[in-house]
Amino acid sequence: MTGNDDPIGVFDSGVGGLSVLREIRAALPHENLLYVADSGHLPYGSKPAEYIEQRALAVGRFLLGRGAKAIVVACNTATAAAIATLRAEFRVPVIGMEPGIKPAIALSTSRIVGVLATEGTLTSAKFRDLVGRTGEAVEVIAQACPGWVEQVERGELASPATRALVYRHTQPVLERGADTLVLGCTHYPFLCDVIADIAGPGVRIVETGTAVARQLRRRLEAERLLARRTGPGAEQFWSSGPEDVTGRSIAMLWAAAHRVQRLPADVAA
Ligand code: SIN
Repeated sequence: MTGNDDPIGVFDSGVGGLSVLREIRAALPHENLLYVADSGHLPYGSKPAEYIEQRALAVGRFLLGRGAKAIVVACNTATAAAIATLRAEFRVPVIGMEPGIKPAIALSTSRIVGVLATEGTLTSAKFRDLVGRTGEAVEVIAQACPGWVEQVERGELASPATRALVYRHTQPVLERGADTLVLGCTHYPFLCDVIADIAGPGVRIVETGTAVARQLRRRLEAERLLARRTGPGAEQFWSSGPEDVTGRSIAMLWAAAHRVQRLPADVAA
């Protein structure tokens, strides 16, 4: 039985989901938030869908065990691989990510849109369906960006190596005429300054963290599950990787130091 003042569980393969967590915090200031960085199993983007599904189930069950009244899969790759299974298995609302192709098409004047994401997201049936459903005379260029997630995890948000990597994957999409870039991985908003710098002022960048936070709020409202407490909510963090490493990344990306706890061994394994 879930209650209004139970927490919301959020997870990602690592710290990228903090780009979604910050939007959830802005949209739902009174909610308690539990965040799991599954850093011991990072990156998800190059792993088989079955493996990611098992990780999503293990982490989701852990969050439910901590009383989560809703689960947010703050990871595009995990959403593509596991959201249907999580929804079938869990009785609480499960909200996932989706590359913002529709809003990008609405913004594009060249009618060429680039989607930057992991291999796992771009090769998924869910992504193929999403592109197929656009039904618009528009070219969607799917560009995998190997290595970006690792740069964010290392905290290298604007180093020369990161710039070179972002240039390598973004430039071919821009050369083909894309005037709108969709960030289809929750790590990539942390590289937004570098991407924007390389893309130049005429190129729009679309991310979906705010839309997901709004969708979560609407869903909690509809289920009458919004927090009743009036004070500020708190955050708690867990990791399946080294707590000190995750802790440093969270301190940098979340703008405040937080104690990261180790996931229990059976969940972390
Ligand atoms: C990854 O772990 O490869 C990134 C997951 C994602 O947000 O798609």
